[in-house]
This record gives sequence, C-alpha cells and structure tokens, in this order.
Amino acid sequence: MEDKEQWKLVFAVNGGRFELSNVDPSTTLLEFLRTQTPYKGTKLGCGEGGCGACVVLLSKYDPVLEQVEEFTVSSCLTLICSLNGCSITTTEGLGNSKSGFHPIHQRFAGFHASQCGYCTPGMCMSFFSALLNSEKSQRPDPPPGFSKLTVAEAEKAIASNLCRCTGYRPIADACKSFASDVDLEDLGLNCFWKNGESKDVSKLPFYDQKSEISTFPEFLKEEMKPKTLLDSEECSWYNPVSIEELQSLLESKLTENGARVKLVVGNTGTGYYKELEHFNTYISLKHIPDLSMIRRDSSGIEIGATVTISKAIQALREDGEGGFHSTIFFKKIADHMDKVATVFIRNTASLGGNLVMAQRNHFPSDIATILLATDSLVDIQKGCRRQKLTLEEFLEMPPCDSETILLSVTIPSWEPVENSSSETKTQLLFETYRAAPRPLGNALPYLNAAFLAQISSCISSDGVVLESVQLSFGAYGTKHAIRVRKVEEFLAGKFLNVGLLFEAIKLLREIVVPDKGISHPPYRSSLVASFLFDFLHPLVEARTGIFSDGLNGYINGFPVKASRPVNEFDQFDQTKRLGILSPAKQLVKVNREFHPVGEPIKKTGAEIQASGEAVYVDDIPSPKDCLHGAFIYSTKPLAHVKGIKFKSTVLPRGVLGVISVKDIPAGGKNIGITSSLGYEPLFADGLTEFAGQALALVVADTQKHADMAAANAVVDYDTEGLEAPILTVEDAVEKSSFFTIPPFAKPKQVGDFAKEMAEAEHKILSEEVNLESQYYFYMETQTTFAMPDEDNCMVVYSSSQCSEDTQMVIASCLGMPEHNVRVITRRVGGGFGGKAYRAMPVATACAVAAHKLNRPVRIYLNRRTDMIMTGGRHPMKINYSAGFKSNGKITALRVDILINAGISEDFSPIMPHTIERALKKYDWGALSLDVKVCKTNHTSKSAMRAPGDVQGSYIAEAVIEHVASYLSMEVDSVRNINLHSFESLKLYYEKGAGESLEYTLPSIFDKVAVSSSFQQRIAEIRHFNSCNKWRKRGISRVPAVYEVAVRTTAGRVSILNDGSIVVEVGGIEIGQGLWTKVKQMVAFGLSPLLCSGREGFLEKIRVVQADSLSLVQGGLTAGSTTSESSCAAVRECCDMLVERLTPVKERLRKQMDTVSWDVLILQAHLQYVNLSASTFYVPDFTSNQYLNYGAAVSEVEIDLLTGATTILQTDIIYDCGQSLNPAVDLGQIEGAFVQGIGFFMLEENLTNSDGLVVSEGTWTYKIPTIDTIPKRLNVEILNSEHHEKRVLSSKASGEPPLLLAVSVHCAIRAAIIEARKQLLSWKGSDGSCSSFQLKVPATMPVIKELCGLDNVESYLQSLLSHQ
Ligand SMILES: Cc1cc2nc3c(=O)[nH]c(=O)nc-3n(C[C@H](O)[C@H](O)[C@H](O)COP(=O)(O)OP(=O)(O)OC[C@H]3O[C@@H](n4cnc5c(N)ncnc54)[C@H](O)[C@@H]3O)c2cc1C
Ligand code: FES
Ligand code: FES
Repeated sequence: MEDKEQWKLVFAVNGGRFELSNVDPSTTLLEFLRTQTPYKGTKLGCGEGGCGACVVLLSKYDPVLEQVEEFTVSSCLTLICSLNGCSITTTEGLGNSKSGFHPIHQRFAGFHASQCGYCTPGMCMSFFSALLNSEKSQRPDPPPGFSKLTVAEAEKAIASNLCRCTGYRPIADACKSFASDVDLEDLGLNCFWKNGESKDVSKLPFYDQKSEISTFPEFLKEEMKPKTLLDSEECSWYNPVSIEELQSLLESKLTENGARVKLVVGNTGTGYYKELEHFNTYISLKHIPDLSMIRRDSSGIEIGATVTISKAIQALREDGEGGFHSTIFFKKIADHMDKVATVFIRNTASLGGNLVMAQRNHFPSDIATILLATDSLVDIQKGCRRQKLTLEEFLEMPPCDSETILLSVTIPSWEPVENSSSETKTQLLFETYRAAPRPLGNALPYLNAAFLAQISSCISSDGVVLESVQLSFGAYGTKHAIRVRKVEEFLAGKFLNVGLLFEAIKLLREIVVPDKGISHPPYRSSLVASFLFDFLHPLVEARTGIFSDGLNGYINGFPVKASRPVNEFDQFDQTKRLGILSPAKQLVKVNREFHPVGEPIKKTGAEIQASGEAVYVDDIPSPKDCLHGAFIYSTKPLAHVKGIKFKSTVLPRGVLGVISVKDIPAGGKNIGITSSLGYEPLFADGLTEFAGQALALVVADTQKHADMAAANAVVDYDTEGLEAPILTVEDAVEKSSFFTIPPFAKPKQVGDFAKEMAEAEHKILSEEVNLESQYYFYMETQTTFAMPDEDNCMVVYSSSQCSEDTQMVIASCLGMPEHNVRVITRRVGGGFGGKAYRAMPVATACAVAAHKLNRPVRIYLNRRTDMIMTGGRHPMKINYSAGFKSNGKITALRVDILINAGISEDFSPIMPHTIERALKKYDWGALSLDVKVCKTNHTSKSAMRAPGDVQGSYIAEAVIEHVASYLSMEVDSVRNINLHSFESLKLYYEKGAGESLEYTLPSIFDKVAVSSSFQQRIAEIRHFNSCNKWRKRGISRVPAVYEVAVRTTAGRVSILNDGSIVVEVGGIEIGQGLWTKVKQMVAFGLSPLLCSGREGFLEKIRVVQADSLSLVQGGLTAGSTTSESSCAAVRECCDMLVERLTPVKERLRKQMDTVSWDVLILQAHLQYVNLSASTFYVPDFTSNQYLNYGAAVSEVEIDLLTGATTILQTDIIYDCGQSLNPAVDLGQIEGAFVQGIGFFMLEENLTNSDGLVVSEGTWTYKIPTIDTIPKRLNVEILNSEHHEKRVLSSKASGEPPLLLAVSVHCAIRAAIIEARKQLLSWKGSDGSCSSFQLKVPATMPVIKELCGLDNVESYLQSLLSHQ
C-alpha cells in the first residue's frame, strides 16, 4: 500500500455538499452533524443504538440499477468515513419554519405527539423512511392525502424509537393518519377536526404522495468514484475492494509498530462494546463485492458477511429456487431476524459482524442460535487459507484474531426426507424462540432457541415419531449458542409421548445451564423447558390429526406449527394482523367560558420540535474555544481517594486538565446541591461517600475525548481505618443513620390504631414489602453550557427544572454574589423531577471549570454516567399490619417505612408526607404511619414524578389485595367498601378535601366500571381462563387520590411597540405544555381589551426562556402545579395591564367604533402607559391544597410459559377540573400512566454490592415501548365543578395519573392467582394460590417464578400420573 491514493470524503446532508479531507475515522455521523453542521435536530439520547433519538435517513445511489436506496440508520454508531457518496437527510431536510413544514411535522404537532420534543426528530425520520419506502411498492395508488403505507406498517415504523413523555398513542395516531387503510374515526384527539365534526382527510395537512423530497442530490452521482484511502494526521481509513487487497493491507498494517487495526462494517458493535481506546487504522469491508453477495440455489442461500441484517431478511423472504418447505423455513428465519435489535440498527448491522461478535466476544446473538439449528456453514479466511466450517465449529474455535475474516454464511435448504415406506409420512418442523422484555425487538433475549425436526407418522398407529431433531439454545449466559446433542440423540427415532417429552426436558435442564454471573438463572433455565414443551407438546396432543388432515391446521399449509394453539381469544395474533394498537377513545369536554383557555390547542413549538429547529441546551452552537467536561465518579461506597491517574503517563488525547475540589475558588464552597433541607458537596474531598459520587471533571477539546479520558481514569482508593459503608436500610437503623423530617412532613396519625387493632375481627401481622428505585430516563441527559462573562460573571445555560436554585448553588460554589450568575433555561428534553436538584451539580461543575479555565465549557452527560450519578426514585422497605372485618372493611392499619434516601437530604425528608397523602386514599379506620428516612452510602435519591405518592398508593393496594386474599373475597369489593365517605375524607385530608361536591372519586370509580364494561369482562375472563392452560387473564380497577399544593411563582407580561407580547414565567417548559397554557391564559387575561375578533391573537404571544436574572423568584418546576401557578401569575399581570389600558381604550372608543389592538397599543405608548406588568403570585395558603382523583381499569394477559405480559386494555377516567387545555392534560395523563407502567412492570434500576448502578444504559434498562403499552388505552377527562379557589377551576395532571398504573400490577396479580390455582391442581396439593407477593417491577422472570418455574414439568407429571 505504498502508493496510497489520497481521497476526500464527499457526501451530502440535506442536499448540501460536504467534503472532508482530514477527519478522525472514529467520528460518528451524529458527532459530525451536531458539531460541524447547522443541523442540530438529530439528538443524542443513548449513543448505543438503543433509543432512536439520532435516527436519520441514509440514501445511496446504485449506478447499475439507477436507483436510490433509502433507509434509516442510527447516526450515533454510523462512522462518517463510511458515508462516501451517500446522502443524509435529517428532520430539517423534510421542512422547516421558513420554507414550510413537512406534513409529518404538522401532523405530529396536530395530534399532540410531541411533548418535550427530544424524541420527535428521530420519530419523524423513522416514520419518513417507512413512508418513502412504501411509496416505492407496487401497491395501488391510495386516495389523495394518504400514502401506500398500512396502519400496521405505520405503527411498526416507530416501534424501535423510545419516547419517555407521550405514552406513544398520539405518535402512533399521527403516523397512522397517513395510512391508506386507516379509518379516520379511529384516530385520537387532534386539532384538525373538532368533536362532532366530520373526520375528513382534507382537514389534515395535505400529504402529496407524488411530490417526493429529493433525498439524493444529482451532483453526488458524479462523485462516486471508487477510492481506497483516507489518511488523516494520526489515523487512516481504508476501503479495500477485494479480498486480496484486504489481505495485503492486513499483513502490512498488523505488522506496523503500535498498529491498532479495526475491521468495520456497520460499526453497530460499538453500541455494545464501547470503544475506550483509539484505533489508528480502520478497514471497511463494505466495498468488497465477494463479501456483499447473496447467492441462492436449490441447496440453500449463501449470504456474504457484510450483508446487512435487513438485506438478509429481504433475501430470505423472497421466494427462491428451494422447495415450498425451504421457502417457509427461510421466512421463519427472517421473522426471527426481524426482532434482532431495531430497524435502524438492522439496516447497517451485518450478519458477519453479528457472528464475529458472538464468536469472539460471546455476544448473546440471536442469529448464531437460529443458524446453528439449521446446520449453517461459514467460510473464513486467514492469510491465504480459506476454510469452510460448520457454524458450530466456528463458534467453538478459539476467538478469531484480527487477521481472520468471515467471508460468508450458508444456510442450507431443508425439505422433508421422503421415507420409502408407504406406511409413514414425514414432515419438517421448524420454530424459533426468544423471550425478551419487548416483544417486537430492541431487547436482548433472556434465552433464544431454534428447533428443527423431521417427524413421521405411522398411518396405522396413532402417533408421531421424531426421526431427527436439532436443538440450539443461546443468550442464556453461555459463551456461545450450543447444540444440545445429547438431547437430540435421546429424542431421535423415538415415538413422541408425554413421558418422552418429560424426560427430554429433564435432560435438557441438566445441560443448558446459565454461567455464573448472569441475571435470573433459574428463570432462563425454566424457559428451556417452556420452549421445548411449546415445540413438541402440540404434536403429542395432535397426534395423527396433523397427518390425516394433510397440512391442515398449520400456517400457510406448511407444517411449521403455530407456537400457540389458535383460538377465539387469540388477541395477539389478531394484533399482529391489524397492527400493534387497537383504536382507543379519548373523551374530553371543552369549556369555552374562558376562551381560549380550555381549548385543546396544540403545544406551542411542537412543529419546530419536530423539524429539529427547537434549541435545547446542547444545540446552542459552541464558541471557538469551547471545552467539554466529563465526570470521573467513584465506584466505591466509602473510601479515601488517594489519587486519580490516567492509564498512560501522558494526558489522554485532547485533555486539557482535571477539575476537582481544589479548583473551587477561594471564598467559594464545595457545594453541588442545596435545598432548604440540606446540601450535597460538588466533589468528594479526599473521601468518597457513595459509588457514583463526582471525584473530578475531565476537561477536553471534545465531549468524546473527555468521556474517553474519564472512562479510562484510574482511581486509587483506600478503605483503611474506615467503617463499613451503610448500604441497606437495616444498616442505617443499626447505626441510627437518619435524616431529620421537618415537622410539616411528619405523618399525622388518624384515630387510635392500638385500640382498633386490638378489637379487629381479623388481623394481618407484620407483612413486609420492598420497593425498588426507578431511573428518570429523560431522553436528554443532564446538560449545561457555562460561559465566563465580563466583570467576573458567569452565564450558564442549564437543562434544569429550577434556574433560581441552580443560580444560588453556582454563586455559592464560586463565591460570588448571585447577580454575577445568570442561569438560562429555554426548554428541557424531559425532566420528571430528575432535573430539579440533580441538574445543579452538573451546572455547578461546568461553571467551576469555565471559571478556572476562563473558557466556555459544556457538559453533556453520557447516558451511562447520567444513570450512575443521578439517583432516581427512592427504594424502601415497608412493613404493615392491618385489622379488618369479615366483610373486608379495614379498621386499623399500621405502616412502618424505611426509605433508602442515599447520602444527602435532597427531597427525601419530604417523602414521609408524600407517601402519607397517597396512602390515605382509602379509609383505613385508624391509621398509624411511621417513616424513617435513612442516610446511606448511595447516590442521593431525589424526586421522581409522583415521588412517594406512587409508593404510598402502591402500599395501599398491597394491603387491600392482602386483605382480599386473606378473606378469599373479590378484591374489587374490598376496594369499594374501603373508599372514603366525604366525612372520612375530611378527617384524613383536612385542608385538601375541600367541599363535598368536589369529592368526585366515588362517581368516577363507578363510571369507569360502566365505561369499561368491568363486570361483563370479569365473566369473559373467567371463561377465557377456564379454556386456556398457558395464558391467563386478570382485570383490576383501582382509584387514585393525589394531593397537590399550588406554590408561589413570578410572572411578567410585556407588550411591545407592534402589539406583540412577550411573557416570562418562573415555570420551565419541560414538555408538560406549560408555555401553551400560559399563552392561552395571557390571551384570556387580555381579552377584555379586545374589541374586534380574537383571531390570531394567540400568535401575538411569545413565552420566552427562564432567565434567573430577568425574572427572580421563579421557584421550582415540580409538583404538577407549576403550569397553573404560572397561569395565575400571568393572569395577575394581565389584570394590571387591563386596568392600565382600559382608560386608553375607553378614550379611543369615543373617537372610533372599534379599537384595534395595534391602535390601542400605539396610543398607550404615546401616553406613556407602562406596558410591562410583573407579579409574584402568592396563593391563598389556607386553600392552596386540593385533591386530584382518577380511576383505572386494566386487563392483562400473562403467558405462563415465558412470564410475558400483554396489557390488553386500560380505561382511565381522570378529573381535571375545568381543564386549561384538555389536549395537554390528556398527554400528561397518558404519558404519566405509561411511565407508571415502566415502574410497575419493566424498569429494573439495579446496583452491585457496592451500590454502583449497573443498569447503566438502554441494553439493561427497559422503558416502555409501543409494544409494551396497553393495546387499547381509553381515557376520559372529567370536567368537574367550578371552583373559585383553583386557577380557573382547573386541576393538575402531570403526576397523579402515574399512580393509576398500579391497576396493571394488580391485574397481573389476578392473572397469576389463576395460574397458581392451576399449578396447585397439577401438583395435587391444596395450599393457597393467592398468598404471594408480586414484586415491583413485575418483570417476566418475576411473573414466571410465581406461575411456577417448573410449571411445564408439573403439568407433564400430572398427565403422566393420570395415564
Ligand atoms: C442496539 C442494538 C441491539 C442489538 N440487538 C441484538 C439482538 O437482539 N440480537 C442479536 O443477535 N444481535 C443484536 N445486536 C447486535 C447486532 O446484530 C450487531 O451489532 C451487528 O450485527 C454487528 O454488525 P456490524 O456490521 O455493525 O459490525 P461491526 O460493529 O462493524 O463489527 C463488529 C465486530 O466484528 C468484526 N467484524 C465485522 N465483520 C467482520 C468480518 N466479516 N470478518 C471479521 N471480523 C468482522 C469487527 O472488526 C468488530 O470487531 C444489537 C446491536 C445493537 C447496536
Ligand atoms: S442516540 Fe443513537 S440510538 Fe440512541
Ligand atoms: S416527547 Fe418523546 S421523549 Fe419527550
């Protein structure tokens, strides 16, 4: 490679030409877009391929076919050097505010599908790609305004993208509105047609199927010459075009001194195996034709190693030369591959890359497992030596070195072996399995498997003989997928019966054993039995039916069995056909009294969020000399920090310094968080007190260099002389390590518990429940940008829920007056409480670094650091005792709670109060509550959406469920009998209860039963459960009560010369729609000044960013009431302006009939009227608390073989008072509910034994996706009575609906009871089927364990014992 031909990298972004001659080959497309182009719409959410925030469209031109190929990619993993000759389209490329938005942007906005907006650009691009590709299909042209896309495809298009705010339903509706087969009646609330109006496509922003956006500019076609090398200062990128060239390149490069060579195809492997070191040579395999071919003949299909998984799926689905069986067999493989990763990963991830990762790194691959069962072969080459191996041999050889190239994979065709005897018929069975937290992919499986069997039947006998069987298992905590030869041999040639199956499973369990260290080993083991049972048992049952009916009863006539018997209840199969979600109802009433308040208008800025023009903190362009910071955090809970070093003796690449406690300026304090209750240091000062504590901040020229250096830092710890850390609440109790609870947060006792308990008819004594933590998972991680300003000032842009407090902490840390610190927040990409206190240390560290280096510094925490350092919801240990009557009426309840609060006070001392207020939702008779807030050596836990309330509400339901189980009563009647009367409500809630008319809960509780056909469905579920062995259903109805308090805040409304209005409020727009409600309120507040129409008046109003020096006393955006207090503040401002302007208007009225707004303002200027009004809103503290009510019914179905749950339907009724904006409130209700589903079902925030968070990314932390939310989510917003003491009679909606997600948990419990009943009958034992605890979150392993890890064996044994 001596005569290198240097080339330039040429590609296009949104039609514009980019040419690079000197680029670091490790640069990702996302990094490039965000730092070197004006396009900041594409967001960084995880950096590991798991969230979809960074999705863009990649277009490639094929000069032979003269076609442009378009597909999505995750730009966070795609390397820029791999894009020569490609074109990238980001959401900005679809349209924008200047040239006009794309109908996708407009429909996302109009269907209320964007809240914080951080996921929206990625969602839009995922959907755009599906839309574009559907138009290329041969389907008939759709009616005008629609596309060729189907509803099912529209939903699937966004199934890989995460959204933490909306709950997905509105996003799905926006996408479905383009589908040609959509019934517009099925689409949810939007601002294109009003209630009762005809739902006509012409009212939607027009989509012209014919007017395509050009995603591939003409000029690029000229620039696609084959080029081989890009050499930058230190690193090179090669594009060899033949295997020979590759070999010689490898030979020369690998022998170079210090060479670090990386072979690369899609580079998605770095999503899992993070690159912590630099490579100096990148060799892309993508341009070698031999590696990208697909060859197909009657013997099978050979797929080149660089073929992407998407392309492989496409090829496997095409009908080839193989027989009928092979065609279906390949389609089955394709269907499984369709669940590998996500669509935007599969589009670049290669088959070869997957297998090499499985071989070399023991990656839990799906592809290795399924191909192993099919006797696939691989071709590899090392030097000049080529070898054909079975996949099994390949997996078993020592890990491939960097010289070994995987060339191709061959999957053989399979046809049944004809048996010469006319007595028998042979058939081929093939099935693949994966049990994963998300049914449609984007989650690694707990176990995967593939089974291939030749079976035959003797016509004269009634049975099936397993001629041969191939069984492979993988991903269960093993080095690589394995073939279970011993079981294969055991089964081969045998007559299949229950006994044989039982013995095979027993044998299998002994062989397929998870390695040490993997999570949930017994669960994974149990899946082994489930899968084989699922594969073979229908054959035992079906017997000769399969053969005498020919191919009947099998999918497409092919004897590949359906994995579940199809029956009338098969909702899952139904949703597969129809799409993921079923049509849902949203019932909202619009109150026009305070127009435009009360209108469901779309969220302010939703379009620019969709088009990527909305500016978040990390989107603010960096000044030239800007630096970037990354935290080095402790991994020990309690230790002296003796030193911090980097692995190499020289400073890592790009690093300028390390900021620590020593760099806090003289006069400043080591303070990172402050609240009225306590404070937390910014950096550990010689002693680290919890794993995750900031030890220092590495500052480097780029975020990547800072992150890499921080990850490579080595900390020297010493624990000598230190006591053991306090890691559990029990340790804390032993050492009396508690935080003081302020008097107002101390729980108040109701009645005389001791007396009532003594007199109780029945008693539960001392039951323990544990609740774990939950991580915020806002899509935008913590981020700050700090800029030193003149005269020793600091300007800090922070993604924070409280600029005022952030300003205080920074000033205190830097030892400067607060007026030297300006904290600005425009919008936050999701907060959920995590950007209240927890944003402060990030902003403060950034400011310290900027101050010390006197240069702008920014920090954008990577997802891992964010998850490790930020804390989350409070874990707690609960113990309760209850006394009750035979009719289920509870008369006494005592609850003792130990909260694991972590190292500092933060919000924790308030928790006893928030737990108490939700726990009191039922009338317990006498209630005694004791809460201890334990100080432990963990990251401080903080407020997370409904903090304490969600736990309190859950405890209440746990008690109710327990009492019902004790009395063997229907849980619903126990709930009913314990609901408050208004009298008991007043006793429990004193201030918040209000007047009797306000107590809407009993009527809501009844109403939701009617609207959801609760009683009828109970009967249907009973029937379902009696007909189904392996799936059980449960239903549950729960109430929620949530007390909120309206707080003080500031506001200012100013009218400018041209009549446009600028509004400042203390509240921060975090996606909750605060700006929208405030705008509506300003329009209403100033309406007395409007003579003529109000058309367009809303557009005159702009709410601007929170600026701690412009508007003081802004307060905290938290507690669900910030929108209403901000509205109350601006209303006061409007009242002042109306008072000042009314005389001007009256004077003008004498001269003209109507006074236009512009004339009024012009005159006011001339008359020196003060057109800016500001206020500090202080609610009436005697009546600032009120109760929110809601109720939900959820129905679930659990799979007893895997523990998977499907939420079939949820019906919610929520009282919003007189909603300020029903669309915004609906979004809050659905979004909060789905976040609650995450807490109750999916999200495991795990730590190691040192308390270090180990659920540190999208691989292990699973928030809900569109395939895990209720299939049907009906929501009704109740407009309850007017109330003068609430802001225009409105109520809060941000947090309370999260509590209703417990209905899903309770429904799962009901389904498990049914499963356990059945298990007991199989085991022939009595026992209780309802006395168990269902953990939170109720994940698949948890559910399966309760249904019986050995339920398959128990069933088979029961069959055997009856034979
Ligand atoms: C978010 C996400 C989710 C995923 N989920 C799943 C899942 O559910 N199931 C599953 O099975 N997989 C999953 N994967 C893995 C995915 O399939 C692989 O990352 C991908 O196939 C690797 O292909 P690539 O082209 O990107 O490889 P690269 O990242 O380019 O390379 C990976 C490694 O293989 C080497 N390599 C690549 N090709 C060759 C070759 N031909 N010869 C020799 N060495 C080679 C590279 O040097 C590198 O070390 C997931 C990946 C991501 C990012
Ligand atoms: S940022 Fe790329 S997928 Fe999350
Ligand atoms: S709107 Fe989807 S993450 Fe906020």
